[in-house]
Amino acid sequence: MPRPGNLAPTLAAGYRRVDAITRASEGEAGGGDMAERLAGKVIALTGAGSGIGRACALRYAAEGAAVVVNDVDPEAARRVVVEIEKAGGRARAHAGDVTKPETSEALADAAVAAFGRLDVFHANAGGAMPTPIAATDHARWRRDLDLNLDAVWFGTKAALRVMVPQGRGVILVTSSGAGLGGVHGLSAYGAAKAGVINLMQVTALEYGPKGIRANAICPGTMDTPQLRAWLDAQPGRDRFAAGIPLGRLGRPDEIAHAAVFLASDEASYVTGAALVVDGGIASTMAVPSSD
Ligand SMILES: NC(=O)c1ccc[n+]([C@@H]2O[C@H](COP(=O)([O-])OP(=O)(O)OC[C@H]3O[C@@H](n4cnc5c(N)ncnc54)[C@H](O)[C@@H]3O)[C@@H](O)[C@H]2O)c1
Repeated sequence: MPRPGNLAPTLAAGYRRVDAITRASEGEAGGGDMAERLAGKVIALTGAGSGIGRACALRYAAEGAAVVVNDVDPEAARRVVVEIEKAGGRARAHAGDVTKPETSEALADAAVAAFGRLDVFHANAGGAMPTPIAATDHARWRRDLDLNLDAVWFGTKAALRVMVPQGRGVILVTSSGAGLGGVHGLSAYGAAKAGVINLMQVTALEYGPKGIRANAICPGTMDTPQLRAWLDAQPGRDRFAAGIPLGRLGRPDEIAHAAVFLASDEASYVTGAALVVDGGIASTMAVPSSD
């Protein structure tokens, strides 16, 4: 056990790193807390070059984790790694398409090779553009399921391969409010996002006794490039935010804060949960307002 007197320089260095990374992501990562809630953890994160994934990567690093940053866009992954490293954090880029099973396998291996183990696998990559059911052909349906369901299954299996022998680990999945209820134009995406919640629950059930927790986050409408592209195609886009109980779109860092909690030991008794972070959307019913 280190003597308390010897801890001061380590803590001071840790606090400086949290401050630097928080400043680097100011306006996105937000907050200014001084504790490293993920100190020493190794996290592999998919689709981390943009939006929610980028915010999670920055926040994980700010909380003391080493992050392996995956994205299908190698430049985007590299940029996030540079942001983390400039602020004093630890990260590696690992480009690849998660619809190919070998990408998640290689990502889990890269985490172990670079940092010695894998504590958290966050399957975040996903997305779709809205198409009504009648206009959705089989190729489109397959593409949306490949990215939003099959890729999460590949990630889960890759993570378990490393975590089961370790006897511990956390699997996180970015699902969606569209996996909890119907959203116009999102039939394939919604089916996939509902599917990953159930996959996560079965993972929690089968692997809880082996020390592995599995949870999902269900974002509402978060202000990311993907959401902006979707929103721009909506006829009622100007009135959209007013229909959200909190009256605004969410920020990616608001998902990152929830992800830090689920990834951390603070959530040691939380498994099989789908945490809704949506400004209240899922709590409403589509009943016309009298106002
Ligand atoms: N933005 C929202 O409102 C919202 C709401 C609910 C759920 N989500 C979910 O959150 C996650 C992140 O979405 P976002 O809004 O941040 O999107 P985004 O488009 O901003 O970022 C997604 C990232 O994933 C990468 N990516 C895409 N396909 C990939 C693949 N095959 N392999 C590896 N990387 C790939 C992209 O290059 C991009 O960098 C997705 O799973 C999405 O479905 C988003």
